Order: sequence, then C-alpha cells, then structure tokens
Amino acid sequence: MFIKCRLDSFFACMARRTVYFIAIFLALSSCLSARFAYGQITDPLEVSTLLAVRRQLTDPRKNLKNWDKMKDPCASNWTGVICYRNKSDGYMHVQELRLMHYNLSGILAPELGQLVHMKILSFMWNNISGSIPKEIGTITDLKQLLLSGNQLSGPLPDELGYLPNLIKLQLDLNQLSGSIPKSFVNLPKVQHFHMNNNSFSGQLPPELSALPLLKHFLLDNNKLTGYLPPEYSEMPSLTILQLNNNNFEGNVIPDTYGNMSKLIKLSLRNCNLQGKVPDLSGIRSLLYLDLSKNQLTGKIPVNRLSDNITTINLSKNQLNGSIPSNFSGLPHLQKLRLNNNLMSGSVPSTIWKDRTFTSDSKLEINFQDNLLSDISGVLEVPPNVTLMLHGNPVCRNATQRNIGHLCGSDNGDENTATVNKPVLTCPSSCPTCFEYVPGLPDKCFCAIPFGVGLLLRSPSISDFPPYRDQFNEYIIGNVKLYPYQLFIDSLAWEEGPRLRMFLKFFPQLNNDSHTFNDSEIQRIADIFATFVIPGNDTFGPYDLLNFTVSGPYSNMPLPSLKSKGMSEGALAGIVLGSIFCASMVLLGVVLLFLKKHQQLPLNAVKDKSFGKVTIIMDGVKALGFKELQAATSRFSIATQVGEGGYGKVFKVGYCDEDEEQMLVYEFMPNGSLHDLLSARYRSPLSFATRLHIALGSARGILYLHTEADPPIIHRDIKANNLLLDSKWTAKVSDFGISRLAPISDVKGVTEAHISTNVKGTPGYLDPEYFLTQKLTEKSDVYSLGVVFLELLTGMQPISHGRNLVREVNIACQSGTMFSLIDESMGPYPSDCIKKFMQLAIRCSQDETKDRPSMLEVVRELENISSALPECDNTALELNLNTVTSESSPSASAPSSSVYSKTHTYVSNNLRGSNLVSGFFTTIKPR
Ligand SMILES: *[C@@H]1O[C@H](CO)[C@@H](O)[C@H](O)[C@H]1NC(C)=O
Ligand SMILES: *[C@@H]1O[C@H](CO)[C@@H](O)[C@H](O)[C@H]1NC(C)=O
Ligand SMILES: *[C@@H]1O[C@H](CO)[C@@H](O)[C@H](O)[C@H]1NC(C)=O
Ligand SMILES: *[C@@H]1O[C@H](CO)[C@@H](O)[C@H](O)[C@H]1NC(C)=O
Repeated sequence: MFIKCRLDSFFACMARRTVYFIAIFLALSSCLSARFAYGQITDPLEVSTLLAVRRQLTDPRKNLKNWDKMKDPCASNWTGVICYRNKSDGYMHVQELRLMHYNLSGILAPELGQLVHMKILSFMWNNISGSIPKEIGTITDLKQLLLSGNQLSGPLPDELGYLPNLIKLQLDLNQLSGSIPKSFVNLPKVQHFHMNNNSFSGQLPPELSALPLLKHFLLDNNKLTGYLPPEYSEMPSLTILQLNNNNFEGNVIPDTYGNMSKLIKLSLRNCNLQGKVPDLSGIRSLLYLDLSKNQLTGKIPVNRLSDNITTINLSKNQLNGSIPSNFSGLPHLQKLRLNNNLMSGSVPSTIWKDRTFTSDSKLEINFQDNLLSDISGVLEVPPNVTLMLHGNPVCRNATQRNIGHLCGSDNGDENTATVNKPVLTCPSSCPTCFEYVPGLPDKCFCAIPFGVGLLLRSPSISDFPPYRDQFNEYIIGNVKLYPYQLFIDSLAWEEGPRLRMFLKFFPQLNNDSHTFNDSEIQRIADIFATFVIPGNDTFGPYDLLNFTVSGPYSNMPLPSLKSKGMSEGALAGIVLGSIFCASMVLLGVVLLFLKKHQQLPLNAVKDKSFGKVTIIMDGVKALGFKELQAATSRFSIATQVGEGGYGKVFKVGYCDEDEEQMLVYEFMPNGSLHDLLSARYRSPLSFATRLHIALGSARGILYLHTEADPPIIHRDIKANNLLLDSKWTAKVSDFGISRLAPISDVKGVTEAHISTNVKGTPGYLDPEYFLTQKLTEKSDVYSLGVVFLELLTGMQPISHGRNLVREVNIACQSGTMFSLIDESMGPYPSDCIKKFMQLAIRCSQDETKDRPSMLEVVRELENISSALPECDNTALELNLNTVTSESSPSASAPSSSVYSKTHTYVSNNLRGSNLVSGFFTTIKPR
C-alpha cells in the first residue's frame, strides 16, 4: 500500500530544515526569545476556558485569587491548575484541575469540555451544585473524574460513557439521580465506579457486565430497583460489588454470583432481597460478605468459605436450620453475625476452638435472637472472642449453665477503633509544630509531620489492628519512605462501614532541618491526590480527605498543588525552542480538524464483539495503533525515512515516542518543491508543470485564508513546505508556526492584522511584517511570490549574497527579465511566462497594499493556465482538469480496516484543497 519511499526527498528536508532554522535564529535573534516564551504559555483557548469555569464558581475562601486573567495559568501556577508542555504545539496545556476542599459553590461550566488535554478533573469536597455537564464526555484524555462530596444533581449524561481513557469515576455523596446509563459499557479502561450515596434509580444495566477492567462497583445508598443482573458474574476483574441500601424488592441473589472468581467483597445489605443464600464457596478470594437485613430464607450452604474471610454477616434475615460447621476454624474471621434469624440446634464451639488467635486479633460472634437451644462441646470462650447469645432458648437457664456473660443484651461494641500511641520517655517536649517521631521512640527525634486524612471507603476487614502492619507496608511501599516515617494517628469506623484514618508522615532521621522539603511534601501529596497508590484487596479504595500542614508546610498551596514540569521548563525552553521553530506538526490541520468536528455529534459505533466500541467521527477514518505498527513493520529502522526535530519519521509520518503521539501524513512521493528545483533532482520540468504546481500551492493557501474555519495564516510558505504528490499536485504542509487569522469579534469588528513576534524563513519573509510585526494574509502572498520566482528562475531566494526578489526587479526594470528564466524548462510560451512573472513580482512587492489577494492570485493563475493551450499546445503535459487534489488520506494509509480500541482520526475534511492531509493521535501501545 505504501508508495515506494524516496528517503531523500520529502523527509530529508527535515535535516536541511534544521540548518535553515539555525539560520533563522541568527537572522532573527528575537525568534529564540519569542520561542522561549511561547513554550511557557498556556493554550489561549484553555485560558479562556479556565476563566469561563471560574466565572461559574463562588469562592468564599478566595482560594482562587491567583486566577488572574492578566497572568498565564500555567506560567504563573494558578491554584489547582497543573500543566504539561505539549511538544507538538509548543503550548502548555491543562493536564489536571484539582480544586479539592475549597468550599467552592456554583456550577460546573460546560466549557470544561474544551480542556481536551485534561487527565484529572477533581472538584471533590466542595458545594458545587447543578448537573454534570455533558461536555465533559468529550475530554478523551480524561482518566479521573472526581466529583465526590458536592451537591450535584440531575442525571448522568450518556456522554460520560464515551471516555476512552477513563479509569476512575468518583461521584459519590451527591444528589445525582436517574438511572445508570447503558452507555457506560463503552468505558474500556474504567476500573472504579464510586457512585454511592446518591439518588440513582431504576434497573442496573446488565450490559455493564462487559466492562473488562471494572474492579470496584460501589453503588450503595441509592434508590436502585429491579433485579441483580446475573451477568455481573462475568465481569472479569470485579473485586468489590457493594450495592447495600438499595431496593431490589422481590428479587433474589443470582446463583451465578458464586462464580465471581476474583470477588473480594460482596455487600447486599438492606436490599429487600428474597430467596436463598447462594453457595459462595467457589469465591476463593472472598474476604467480606454482607447479606444482612434482607428477607433471605432457607438454610445456609454448608460448603466452606474462603480461608481468608474476615467478615460474614447474614443477620436480620429469615434463615433457618442449624449453624453449619463450615464456620469453624476460619483463621482470619473477625466477625460472624447470624443474629435475628431462625437458626436452631446448638452453637458449635469449634468456631473459636479450632482457631488460633494472635494478641491483637478478635472475633465477634453474634447469634442473638435465634432459636438456638444448646452449645456443643467446650463452653470456655477465650478472651479474644465475644459470643452473644441473648434472645435464644439456650439463655433461658443461663445462670444454671454458667453462660450468663454470653446472654447479656448489650450489642457489643459497634466498631470502636483505638490507636496505641507509644509512650515516649524523652527529656523535654519538642518546639512548637515539632513532634517526637513515634516510630523512633528511643531516638527522641523532633520533626514536623505532614498529615494526610484518608477514608477507606470499602475495606474488607472488620477490625483493623491485625492488619496494621500490612497497612503500613502498603502505604510505605507506595509512598517510598522508611517504616518509621509513617504513624497512624487516629482511626474511626463510620457508617458503611468505612474507616476514617489520619496518617502522619515524618521526615527522615538524618534530615538536618527536621522537616520535609517542598518537593518532598509535594511528592507525597501528589501520590494521594492522584490516586497512584493502587487499591489494595484488603483495604479497598481510599479517598483523600485533606492534608494537614503546619510550620513551613503552611505555605504550600495544598491540597491542590503547583504545576509540575515548570522547573524543567527553562532548559526545555531552549532545547525545544528550536524544535518548535522547526515544527513538523500540522497545527493548522489539527486545528481545522478539531474545529470542523467539534460540533459534529459523536456516533458510537458498536463493534461486533460485544462491548468494544469505537467512536467514529463523521468523515474521519479511524486507524489503530496496530495498523500503524503493521504499516511500519513495528516501527522498524527499515521503514524509518528520517528523524526530525520531533522524533522519528516513518513511511507513515511522524512518531513522538515519549508521548506516544503520532502524526500521520499523506505520503508525498515527489518530495518538496525545493528538492525538485534543487540541482540534485533537476529533471526537466516543463512550464505547464510549474504553472500547475503554482496553482496548487495558491489554492492550498487560499483555502487556509478563506475556507478554513477559523482562517489561518500559514506564515512559513516556502519551497520546502510545498510537497508534491505522484501527479505533481502541490500541497501545502508544515503548519508549525501558523496562526489563526484575525476574525470578527463579538461586535463584528475585525482587526486587520495580528501583532506577533516575527517568524518565518529568510528570503521568504514579508519585509513589511518583518518591520512592523503585523501579520496579515498578504505575508503568505509575499512568500508565495518568492516561490513563483523560484519556479520561474530555478534560483534560490537567497544564495551567495544575492536576493532573488531584488535581482528579478532589477532585471525587469532593465528589460532583461528573460535572461533569468530557468533554461531547463525547455521551450516556453513567452506570453504566458510574462504574465506569470508579472504576477510573481506583484506578489513580492515590499508594501502589503501593492500585493494582490490570494484569490486574485488563484484567478490569474487559472487565466494563464486556461490560455496555455493557445500559447503552446505541446507544452501541456498534464491535463489540468483531471489533476485535482482529490487524493484522500487513505491513499497513504494502510489497507487494513481493523479498528482497535485506540482511536486515530484522519482528517478527511481537507479533501479538495491543496493541503497535505494528516491525522494525529495519542496512542498507548501497551
Ligand atoms: C450514605 O447514606 C447513608 C444512608 O442515607 C447514610 O447513613 C450514610 O451516612 C451516608 N454516608 C456518608 C458518608 O454520608
Ligand atoms: C459457574 O461457572 C461454571 C463454569 O463456567 C459453569 O459451568 C456453572 O454453570 C456456573 N454456575 C452458575 C451457577 O452459573
Ligand atoms: C490468603 O491471604 C494470604 C495472605 O494475604 C494470601 O497469600 C493467600 O493467597 C490468600 N488465600 C486466598 C485463597 O486468597
Ligand atoms: C528533598 O528531600 C528528598 C528526601 O530527603 C531528597 O531526596 C531531595 O533531594 C530533596 N530535594 C531538594 C530540592 O532538596
């Protein structure tokens, strides 16, 4: 499918380009500094978006006071705005918006959808009201949508279901309503649905069983009804299914739930469920089972549950029969509740007799209010065990049996958690803000702790102490500190049950300042704020509640953090500066493409394989990473055609390895016009062909000036950037420094020019733009005029100290114009060539007002072309009417039509214009 590649043509220009750009820097020293600054500023669209978001928020604590419209969000570290530099367009982009715990009220602006590079959007723990804007569903990069703890209401927009990269959807503790959209099945990467404590209603969509990576399904405390979809047992990654406090009235627990091989926690408490307790013995990883407060009937299945189970709660049902022996000897059991059922027979003492206890392990057995008449075997209950038998026949003669202590009516302790603080025997107390590090009791080391409030939202344990060491290891291992640096300061069980904890982190012992430095605080805070610590099977998902800072940490902008990556900015600015100038990126195409397609509806097209869905945009061809991989023989060196400022160039275009971003272009087998005219490739090129190239170029630029929406000034028209397809049709490429042309503002007033720092290529650069920094469409006209002169003379714009424009003007004035015409052209029609030369000279006038518009240029070239047969019939080697730029991007794309889960969009909308078609994508190859 790939046209034979001329290594040295199209892409080789990139090597020379570098040389050119060194020249630019020397010629225009302002460029370097301009580029430098350019690399530090935020994408203007995103700046206005942030301001629009800000306008909808009330900020009583003035946390956002540095959101100053006179300052750049990324460069001046707006609170909560975390940016990264996009190598391909040179702007800083908002990658994370973390506005947690700021008492913000107001609504979420629909404009949020324009922050297309955003990966984390967090408004947790504020008072935001209104609904979730559907526009958020267009942020395809989004990985985490964190809106817990607000007053959001209304239904979930279907659009949220088409976020190809979403991993975490955290919407709990709001007033959201309506049903869970079926469209959520289209979230191929989602792992966490945390949507508890809302008002969601209706049937759970069975379709969600196709979610390949969903681990945590937390929808407790809602108003869901209908049946429990049996298909959910097919969810390959599900570990927590927590649906307690919904109303599945009249429905049963599907038997298939016994087949959830990875399940760790099943909570269906208070769901109005009927029928039997299914056999769950096949779930070997089950740690926590809560089926209490339903109307379950029949006997408890006798098969032994998972060895690691900590909690079995079947209380408040109508279960009968005897207590099965399978509850005996479970080594990690912490809580066994069968109270308020119809259990009969005797209490098997093997439950506690057959297991060993460590000093910190406890077992609570609640069998109250049943029909138990006896206790089998040994009556002695060890101190770690609390057995509650009140309300059973066995307690009728409790004193006689000497079991009075087991028959009391108190309900045991409802999950109190205590922390054993080490007793420190240090001579004196630490200075204010400092504390002795509890993990180093014999060292008496004073340090300032950094506090982190966490909520374990669905732990699979009922008693924390036996798991304390495991928890410390889990946190320390992920935060990468020494064990003594973490201290669990407090613990409290809450409704759910959830476990609220307060952690203190201490700096290292050998730290002279006895404090963390800023970067270390930021690192630790980032770890919690961005949920990089993976959920743990035992402790479940966590929520970040707050950070507690004192002393030197108080100045840190927490809980939202400073922008990352700015410090690298200085160095990168210099290095990348040159790269930006040499930009290979079709910014213009990308812009056009985005503009054109932004308004179009997204059609979700369901693949035949259930659940795999590809979003297709109208008129856009999707290619997958695999196809590109195949097309380049896995990006092998053999298919590499060069290496540019941005990375490697393959017979598919361009690959930026760091970001895994790719730009794919039409392959232009005939290289650039520059190559064509330069001596190495000099093959006789007729006048008709040259005219055809001129017309193609002019049409391409005309398209940018007039039809592109918004209009674009190319700013770097030159022979290098005019590429030739197999039919010698010229196409305009390289929009690296293109600018949007001035467009009407709201009042309909159009500015005549844009003031910018001068960029372009010496020899092609509009002198008026150079002097005044005022950029207009006529700057492109000038550059194209120079290209016309090159076509006519075969000379370069600047060589050996000669300036082509000046030379042609002098020759014209002295009437020796024809002496400059490129002889290799062969016989040419002099009338036509004269007209072409006059047009070229008009285009390359010093003053803007003396140059024609691009439309006039195109018309004049068309006139010359149509007169061409009259001028010279034999010179016409190409049928100009059939050679249009209809080549579609697929001409250079692999033939495979496999759609992968990653989406690649081909810009097809430029068909009919003389522009190099390109498409771009961000791809994760793993
Ligand atoms: C969730 O809702 C339940 C029932 O309304 C309530 O008891 C519980 O406190 C709520 N959870 C939180 C964390 O507010
Ligand atoms: C559990 O899975 C096995 C194997 O896939 C299947 O044979 C069995 O019928 C399933 N059991 C239930 C109750 O669905
Ligand atoms: C039980 O827990 C231990 C320690 O966490 C683990 O190694 C083991 O695989 C678990 N057993 C099962 C059946 O999950
Ligand atoms: C901050 O502290 C950490 C850990 O002690 C250390 O590795 C790092 O180099 C320090 N950074 C700075 C900027 O001092």
